[in-house]
Amino acid sequence: MKPLAFGIDFGTTNSLVCAWGNALLREERPVAFWDNTPSGNRPHPSIVWYGPHVHPKVGLEARASIGSHSTSMGHAFVSSVKRKLGRNAEVELVGGQRKPAWEVASEIFRHLREHAKGHAMMKQSKQELVECVVTVPVDFNGQQRSEIRRAMQRAGLKLRNFLHEPFAAMVSHFYDPVNKLQGIAGKRTIVFDWGGGTLDVCITEVTQDGSHVFEIAHDGIADRAGDEFDLRVMRALKQKFIARSNLKIDDLPLRGNASDRFRLAAENCKIALSTTQEERIEVPSLFEAFGRHHDLEETMSRQEFEEIARVEIDAAEACVQRCLNKAGLSPGLIDYVLLVGGTSNIPAVRSMMERMFGARVAVAHEPDAAIARGAAIVAAEEWIPYNVKDVGVLLSDGTMFSVLPGGRPLLASESQKFSFYCIDPRDGVARIQIVEKKRSGDRALSSLADCMTVKTNPGIREVRSLDRITTQFIVTEDATLRVVAQSASTGSKSEIDIHDLCFGLKLR
Ligand SMILES: Nc1ncnc2c1ncn2[C@@H]1O[C@H](COP(=O)(O)OP(=O)(O)OP(=O)(O)O)[C@@H](O)[C@H]1O
Ligand SMILES: [Mg+2]
Repeated sequence: MKPLAFGIDFGTTNSLVCAWGNALLREERPVAFWDNTPSGNRPHPSIVWYGPHVHPKVGLEARASIGSHSTSMGHAFVSSVKRKLGRNAEVELVGGQRKPAWEVASEIFRHLREHAKGHAMMKQSKQELVECVVTVPVDFNGQQRSEIRRAMQRAGLKLRNFLHEPFAAMVSHFYDPVNKLQGIAGKRTIVFDWGGGTLDVCITEVTQDGSHVFEIAHDGIADRAGDEFDLRVMRALKQKFIARSNLKIDDLPLRGNASDRFRLAAENCKIALSTTQEERIEVPSLFEAFGRHHDLEETMSRQEFEEIARVEIDAAEACVQRCLNKAGLSPGLIDYVLLVGGTSNIPAVRSMMERMFGARVAVAHEPDAAIARGAAIVAAEEWIPYNVKDVGVLLSDGTMFSVLPGGRPLLASESQKFSFYCIDPRDGVARIQIVEKKRSGDRALSSLADCMTVKTNPGIREVRSLDRITTQFIVTEDATLRVVAQSASTGSKSEIDIHDLCFGLKLR
């Protein structure tokens, strides 16, 4: 194990760094670099505050300033920038200034790095946070991952490897420094991680001899998480206000940065309703209509909130079911059920999971830190993610030609080239289907991506001059499998990036 190694959970709403290694064994578990507040330890809110300061401010300080500064000139608050990554998105700041989303994200990484530098333990050990394992949602594709890497690079951080968020939470929950994950040898766990931006579900298994842990299946939903609950609460509160006021209008546009304040108030209302039956929400001067400012003063009951949330919770249940189907398992074949992520605190979410899995449902130890802790453990133990299932090309006889065998470390490596012959070029296209074995030793195959097509020369008739398709398979720095196929006769080229591989870890 390394003396000290680092993991980062870069979240839509909250981010956190954890450290772990030989130097910390007396602590028994990884140390989290919390954003300390008088009310206790909290992760760092992923909010970037652009203002007159030299560097944008991030974290609790930024969050706490939304109320006081969001209406001042020259201030902009950017929340949930993770959701914008990989889409060539830009974020609008003050004075019409725009920045690419990854550059805004780099401010969060810079803040985490600077904050770690000031931590007493880091000063004592004279170590700096540079290289780290970073977690990503299960559905994050190559472009999204590469923008995280780019953001990190700009902040002076180096990526060791990516790990899926729920997988990291599972490692953290069951790990012990002596026996690693031996305690759950032969057991399966489903992790349900519902945060601010994504829902991530994964089913893992530890081998009977405790030597490996791997993902059997994962599934996720982007853009249907805590942020959507907040938007739904905002919409409902606005409708209530319109219905009760005698303004006789259909909508009330939010001017200036009133939406920042409204969003924060809606989020607080949602969080409170996880523990109370009714919550009052007050936002001064929120709406402007007919030349007058109006305060919002409404109440929302838990029952109302649950009705609003129903459609999202149904979508989450369907996601868990899809994950079970991919794994070919029924709920009864799962030994442990772990909940993580802030949105899992909603009582109706927990009830939904209990309906599926019964009394096995448990909240991961210290859910706010579980993901970053798992990443730090993987970094300190120097476990390298490997590809779990055999991946290959589907041949015309229905069998698979293996190109990335299960067990191969997912490290950017030499690429491999293979040639295939298009046996019937008459329709002018060769179709290349990338598949994976559902389970090792099993013959069942499932598609990993949409079919690639390459234009071929339909004039070729003779067997000896069949069109040759050269294919190149590259494991990228982002732990994706890039496939490039080209027809030798037409030069037509096609490229895909497969990101939904299952990760495994060799534990010794
Ligand atoms: N007690 C609670 N009840 C309901 N929602 C909560 C509660 N606590 C936090 N949340 C919500 O959970 C979300 C934040 O959760 P979390 O910190 O797990 O997200 P994240 O890791 O930043 O996001 P992601 O993993 O999706 O990128 C926010 O939408 C927050 O409002
Ligand atoms: Mg998260």
